[in-house]
Amino acid sequence: MWKGRFQTETSNLVQRYGESISYDWRLYPYDIQGSMAHAAALQAAGILTKAEQRAINRGLRDIQAEIESGEFKFRMSLEDIHMNIESALTEKIGAPGAKLHTARSRNDQVALDVRLYCRAEVKKIAASLNRLQSALLTLAKNHPGAVVPGYTHLQRGQPVLFAHHLCAYLEMLDRDLERLRDCQKRINVMPLGSGALAGSTIVLDRKLVAEMLDFPAVTQNSMDAISDRDFIAELLFVLALVGTHLSRLSEDVILWASAEFGFIELSDAHTTGSSLMPQKKNPDVAEITRGKTGRLTGNLVSLLTTLKGLPMTYNRDLQEDKEPLFDSIDTIKLALDVFAEMMAVARVRTDRTREATSDPFLLATDLADYLVLKGVPFRQAHEVIGKLTAHSLESGTPFPEMTLEDFRQFSDAFGADVHQVLDVDTALKARKGIGAPSPTNVNRQLSRWERRLKAGPGL
Ligand code: ARG
Repeated sequence: MWKGRFQTETSNLVQRYGESISYDWRLYPYDIQGSMAHAAALQAAGILTKAEQRAINRGLRDIQAEIESGEFKFRMSLEDIHMNIESALTEKIGAPGAKLHTARSRNDQVALDVRLYCRAEVKKIAASLNRLQSALLTLAKNHPGAVVPGYTHLQRGQPVLFAHHLCAYLEMLDRDLERLRDCQKRINVMPLGSGALAGSTIVLDRKLVAEMLDFPAVTQNSMDAISDRDFIAELLFVLALVGTHLSRLSEDVILWASAEFGFIELSDAHTTGSSLMPQKKNPDVAEITRGKTGRLTGNLVSLLTTLKGLPMTYNRDLQEDKEPLFDSIDTIKLALDVFAEMMAVARVRTDRTREATSDPFLLATDLADYLVLKGVPFRQAHEVIGKLTAHSLESGTPFPEMTLEDFRQFSDAFGADVHQVLDVDTALKARKGIGAPSPTNVNRQLSRWERRLKAGPGL
């Protein structure tokens, strides 16, 4: 491609070192789509005849078919997908192929291809996020009455409906969707026409290209346009955060599936056995996801590190943007899909959740609130219930088995109605403020999610 200036061939080692075709080949549909739009702009500017444009389009379509059928021979010596396609086109159709690169550089070409790729993938990821939300909603609706202890510091805190716990993840995933939609705005800007860095003396109709490729906007500074990878960094951040959310869910699932918790049973289809211990049923999907989250974070850090030292404008370092991007996108799609499949058919073991929520200490805060309603200042009530807890532990008498006299030894604000507080259903019903887990509120959350998820991810 640059044979004019050079006397010797590129060293084989340099070719191996610098090639990107082994991974950027997957940009081919976007490269072809972009080239067709560029050819249309060249024709409109009088650089190509209509017949030449048609030859180019035909050639590109043939190349696409060859790539898809596996016939196409990618050549490492041609470095990347852009030169592989251009060279194959010229071999096929001759002179018109050699005109295609007029007023275009690989710099604006790769920027365009990656934006088109990201735009398409963001839509798929949004759909997968939506499916996982639906799966969690299904799991919640399959176990409407299940109550679990809510934890802080991984110590039992207060009772919540299991559905409320799951809806917390629906909220997280919904913020991820919102971030994707926002990120898409900055992906969806058309860079072609920026040339190598300073546009071209052959002026093309960039708005026509944008329209053909369905971009609502075109970039406004040629130097920024070819060196900007902010949209990739943003997307990698969003995906790292999706991974972080999945990793937290993984940790919950791993705990819940343990003998110690026993709150859920995963299906055989989503667990693995041990090669040695015949009794094992391992939550590998969750562990793998927790593990892969390290890669997602690493990919973000990798790109930010690549970008931080770059002077304007294009530097070959930028070729390092693609592998982390492809890896994060492949990883997150699979993780979301496998999680959706696994969670939709998980079974809550209500015998075990009931046993765990029968722990009377889960209602210690409710007892303190009871005293507050009888006029005791909260700090004092907190201390009274703390002492009551110590007494319960020492004497081995759970709260519900204590008599009114026992209670009154700690505060004379206790009355005959104290035992009514010591009931999980009462405790849940009382939590009726906005966002709190009363059954009415949780049902409202579930119907809200049902409506929202039916409307789709909005991308
Ligand atoms: N493969 C290159 C990349 O991914 C394409 C752009 C090459 N541009 C250049 N001036 N060498 O960044």
